[in-house]
Amino acid sequence: MSETTARRDADAALRARAEIDLAALRANVRALRERAPGAALMAVVKADGYGHGALRCARAAVEAGASWVGTATPQEALALRSAEAGLPDDLRIMCWLWTPGGPWREAVEARLDVSVSALWALEEVTAAARAAGIPARVQLKADTGLGRGGCQPGADWEELVGAALRAEAEGALRVTGLWSHFACADEPGHPSIAAQLTRFREMTAYAERRGLRPEVRHIANSPATLTLPETHFDLVRPGIAMYGVSPSPEIGVPADFGLRPVMTLAASLALVKQVPGGHGVSYGHHYTTPGETTLGLVPLGYADGVPRHASSTGPVLVGGKWRTVAGRIAMDQFVVDLNGDRPEPGAEAVLFGPGDRGEPTAEDWAQAAGTIGYEIVTRIGSRVPRVYLDE
Ligand SMILES: Cc1ncc(COP(=O)(O)O)c(C=O)c1O
Repeated sequence: MSETTARRDADAALRARAEIDLAALRANVRALRERAPGAALMAVVKADGYGHGALRCARAAVEAGASWVGTATPQEALALRSAEAGLPDDLRIMCWLWTPGGPWREAVEARLDVSVSALWALEEVTAAARAAGIPARVQLKADTGLGRGGCQPGADWEELVGAALRAEAEGALRVTGLWSHFACADEPGHPSIAAQLTRFREMTAYAERRGLRPEVRHIANSPATLTLPETHFDLVRPGIAMYGVSPSPEIGVPADFGLRPVMTLAASLALVKQVPGGHGVSYGHHYTTPGETTLGLVPLGYADGVPRHASSTGPVLVGGKWRTVAGRIAMDQFVVDLNGDRPEPGAEAVLFGPGDRGEPTAEDWAQAAGTIGYEIVTRIGSRVPRVYLDE
């Protein structure tokens, strides 16, 4: 038996699996780089690589030309810098979600680029850098209109820039970046896009007039990388597009941008059985068989990240046919009405994938659950083994 066949048999024996196609991820990164040829690319791998596995996705993205990786928490970033991660030593790693008392010293020693939105954070990182005797790499984050993280324009920004300049003069830190984040880049033509861009230009110009010399200025997430070239500046920061999922239906489908979904979520049917008409199905009996039929039991549930909101609506490919979740999705399992078909127990049920075998996509599940593709892939739980293709 060949190694590939043995692996395939072992994978098929799994209750469920999320296949992660790293060749698709690399191709997506290359496609994104072509969209932003003048900018460096930061692969956003927070939240365990949007559910795909941060480390392997970071490695694949670097192979395809990403020179930065980005995470939310410092812990995520530190894990990528560890020797076991095996990423290039000169890879730039940035993280942006800090709280007081965070691991500033570890971050400085690990040469992370850390985001600072407020004076308290600048003070904490400066103190850590002095103690470590290593200048910190700091990126000042501007709130250009998202109304979430970032420093407010005006007096707050002036004060933060001034404090950063003083710390830089002392040798405690180097301001490596000025950056921001969009609110509505996934809504083509939304007036906030131009307003944020103007404010970003003003805030970066102010900081540079005062004497900061950042290596990179950046604001573009996936939708901006794909559709707004004027936002690319020195670096783009795509997340979801790298995983081959569209940022929003208004932007288009992944194939419109030469992107291919990276994750395929599949399970092995745990049971196939015949039931009479009028049979209630799953908790609450929200589905009743319209006549004699066959039911298939899919051993995945909301504990695995299959959204309960997709009860009675989520699509599944079984034996080449689309079936719909029958009744409620439970913690570990749900049912599909197979309409008389009798696949063998163990037959494959594909919840989502690239779509080219006729299976639904993550966007289809997002629509069924009233959410976004980001949430569908990111929430696939740790109980579902990731099977890496083309590692
Ligand atoms: C600060 C920041 N930059 C970039 C991204 C990547 O966004 P997207 O997945 O839309 O490309 C995110 C994700 O939410 C983010 O929080």
